[in-house]
Amino acid sequence: MPVVGVLLWATLLTLGWRAAHPKDHGFATPRVQLSFKELKATGTAHFFNFLLNSSDYRILLKDEDHDRMYVGSKDYVLSLDLHDINREPLIIHWPASQQRIEECILSGKNSNGECGNFIRLIQPWNRTHLYVCGTGAYNPICAFVNRGRKAQGFPPSQPGGRESRSTDSPLSPRPAQSKDYIFYLEPDKLESGKGKCSYDPKVDTVSALINEELYAGVYIDFMGTDAAIFRTMGKQTAMRTDQYNSRWLNDPAFVRAQLIPDSSERNDDKLYFFFREKSADAPLSPGVYSRIGRICLNDDGGHCCLVNKWSTFLKARLVCSVPGPDGIETHFDELQDVFIQQTQDTKNPVIYAVFSASGSVFKGSAVCVYSMADIRMVFNGPFAHKEGPNYQWMPYTGKMPYPRPGTCPGGTFTPSMKSTKDYPDEVINFMRAHPLMYHAVYPTHRQPLVVRTNVNYRFTTVAVDQVDAADGRYEVLFLGTDRGTVQKVIVLPRDDMETEELMLEEIEVFKVPAPIKTMTISSKRQQLYVSSAVGVTHLALHRCDVYGEACADCCLARDPYCAWDGSACTRYSASSKRRSRRQDVRHGNPIRQCRGYNSNANKNTVEAVQYGVEGSTAFLECQPRSPQASVKWLLQKDNSDRRKELRVEGRVLRTEQGLLLRALQLGDSGLYSCTATENNFKHTVTKVQLRVLSSRAVHTVLVQAEPPPRPAGCPHSPLPGPAAAPHSA
Ligand SMILES: *[C@@H]1O[C@H](CO)[C@@H](O)[C@H](O)[C@H]1NC(C)=O
Ligand SMILES: *[C@@H]1O[C@H](CO)[C@@H](O)[C@H](O)[C@H]1NC(C)=O
Repeated sequence: MPVVGVLLWATLLTLGWRAAHPKDHGFATPRVQLSFKELKATGTAHFFNFLLNSSDYRILLKDEDHDRMYVGSKDYVLSLDLHDINREPLIIHWPASQQRIEECILSGKNSNGECGNFIRLIQPWNRTHLYVCGTGAYNPICAFVNRGRKAQGFPPSQPGGRESRSTDSPLSPRPAQSKDYIFYLEPDKLESGKGKCSYDPKVDTVSALINEELYAGVYIDFMGTDAAIFRTMGKQTAMRTDQYNSRWLNDPAFVRAQLIPDSSERNDDKLYFFFREKSADAPLSPGVYSRIGRICLNDDGGHCCLVNKWSTFLKARLVCSVPGPDGIETHFDELQDVFIQQTQDTKNPVIYAVFSASGSVFKGSAVCVYSMADIRMVFNGPFAHKEGPNYQWMPYTGKMPYPRPGTCPGGTFTPSMKSTKDYPDEVINFMRAHPLMYHAVYPTHRQPLVVRTNVNYRFTTVAVDQVDAADGRYEVLFLGTDRGTVQKVIVLPRDDMETEELMLEEIEVFKVPAPIKTMTISSKRQQLYVSSAVGVTHLALHRCDVYGEACADCCLARDPYCAWDGSACTRYSASSKRRSRRQDVRHGNPIRQCRGYNSNANKNTVEAVQYGVEGSTAFLECQPRSPQASVKWLLQKDNSDRRKELRVEGRVLRTEQGLLLRALQLGDSGLYSCTATENNFKHTVTKVQLRVLSSRAVHTVLVQAEPPPRPAGCPHSPLPGPAAAPHSA
C-alpha cells in the first residue's frame, strides 16, 4: 500500500514545470515539450560531441557558400559541416602561450579559468581567409585563417604544415586538414587584438568587418574600464568614441553591430550598435538603459576637436514595456539579443530584440519588434539636452548647426562636404555634448510581441524564420532561454490589436542545461544552430510527427511548418499539391480540416482497467496532448446505461494530470471517460474502467497473507492522507 501511495504523491508532485495557470498574463505552455533525451530520440538534432578540452562555445559564423559553420570557443576555432556538425570537424587548437598564461595568472586574473584564449571574433575577411581574434589570456590576439575548398593543383603541403596534434610552441598554428578542405591559421600573420577584442572573456565583443576595416564594440584596456566603439585596420584613420565620456558610453554591454544602408547613396551607410548601459540619471531612473547607436562608415573625426573620434555618433533609448493595471509601465530594460530580419528592401530590415527586466522585483522577459522607419524618425527628431547636472533632460530647442549633426559627409544632404573634417566646429562641438536623442524608440504597436512574467527563466537569444503556410506567411520565433531550452513560438493576430501567442515546442537542446548564448538559423537548410558554454547543437526547425498520429492533433498544433498529408503529420511545402494537404494555422479547426479523417482522432484513446479499495484513493490519469485543451470527465456507473458528466466536488478532485477520487465507495465503480475539447473539437483521451473492491474482502485477504501484525500502538503508515492503509475495523 505505501508503495502505491508514494507513486501517487510523486505523480502529483511532478506538476513541476507544467503550467499551473495557463491563463495568467505572460504565461505560456508549450504544446510539445521535449527533454534532451526525447529530442535525441526524434533524430532531428545533432550535438557536437567531439572530445575537446574546451568550453564557452560563443561565436557562430555561418558560411552557406562553403557549407560550413565556424565556431569559436576557449582555445579552439572549428569549422563544422552545416549538415552534420559532427562530420569531419576541422579543428584549430589556438591556446595562449604558456608564458602569457603564467603572466596572466600572476596578475590575478585566473579565478574562473579566464587565462585562456577565448575566441570572440570570427569575421569573413576575403574569399580565402577569415579574421579571428581571441582574448589571449588577457592580451588579445588576432590572426588570419585560411579556409575553403581545395582548388585543383593546390600545393598539398601547407605553410608550417604540421599535424594538428603537434605539441610544440603553443602559439604555432595547428593546421587541420581533410581531403577537400583547407583550414589553418596563417603562422606569420599574428596581430595585436587591442581595440578588436576585449581582454576579459566575461565581456562580450561585437564586431563588423566592412571593406577590410574592423568596427568593434570592446573594452580596450586590461582593467576593463575603457569601453569604446573602435575602427581599426584598413586605409582610413583609426577611430573611437570619446574616451571616458559617460554621456557617450557608460559601462556598456555590447550586443550586436549591423550595417544598415540609409539610402542608395553609399556615403550615407551607417553602422548600428545595439547595447545596454548604466544609466547616468540614477537613482531616479532604472539602473540600465537599452540603446541603439549609430555612426557613419565614412566618419573621419573632427579637425579641431574630436580628432580621430567619431563625429557622427548618436544613440537613442530602446523601449520595451507593458502597461500595468495601474497605468504604470513595466519596463524590460536589459537588452539581451537582437535578430535582424532582412526584407526585400535592404534599407528596412525588421529588428527583433529580446529584453529582460532588470529589477530584482520580478523575473521577466519580452520580445519587441522595431521598424527602421521608427528608428530613423527618432534620429531625425530633437536631441536631448541638459542645462546642468541637476536639470531635467529637455528637447534641444536652440539654433541647430549645419549640416545637421549626425549627417554623413558626401551623402544625399551634404554632397559638397567630402569629409567630417570639413564640418564646421559648431557641428563637432554640438556632437560631443549631444550624443543622445530626446525621444525613445518604441516597438511596433507600442507593445511587446511576446511577454513572459512569473516564470523562473529568462530569454537570452532570438532567431526568426519566415514560413509559407497554406493560409499565409508566418514569422516563427525561436527563443533561447537561460535554462538551456529553445521555445518555438508564433504570434497570431486576433481581433483589434489583440494577438494570440502559441508556443509550439519547448526543447532542451543540451545534455547539461546551460544558458543559450548564441543562435543562428539557416532557412535554406531548415536548421537552427545553438551554442552555450557546454557545446553546439543544431536541430531541425520542425518535427511534425511529435504532435501526434491523428489529423486533429496535427491541425490543432497549428505549426506552420506542418500539415496532415492524409496519413501523417509531415512537413508542409507550399509547392506540393494543396488539395491533399490539410493545414489551418490561423483557426486550427479540425472539424473542417479533418473531415474524413476524424475517426483517427480517437485512435490514441487509452483504455484501461483500474482497481481501487473501498475507503482508499484512486488516481485516474488523463493528460491531453495539448495544454490548451479543456478537460471533462464522464461517468457511466456499472448499474446504469447513461453517461453523465462527473461533478468535481467533495471527494472528487481535479489535478493537472487527472482525477483524484478519495474515500472510494463501492458505488464509484464504472467507466470513466476523459474528453478534451480544443477549438470546439472534442475527443476522448482516456477511458478507465474503475472497479472498487470492498474493504472487508481485501482485509480478509491481507490478514491471511501477511506476517503477524505489528505491536499495538504503532502508527500504521508513515505517509499522511490518501496513502493510508484501509482502516482496520
Ligand atoms: C583541460 O584544461 C584544463 C584547464 O583549462 C586543464 O587543467 C586540464 O589539464 C586539461 N586537460 C587535458 C586533458 O588537456
Ligand atoms: C586574403 O587575405 C589574406 C590575408 O591578408 C591574403 O594572404 C590572401 O592572399 C588574400 N586572398 C585573396 C584571394 O585576396
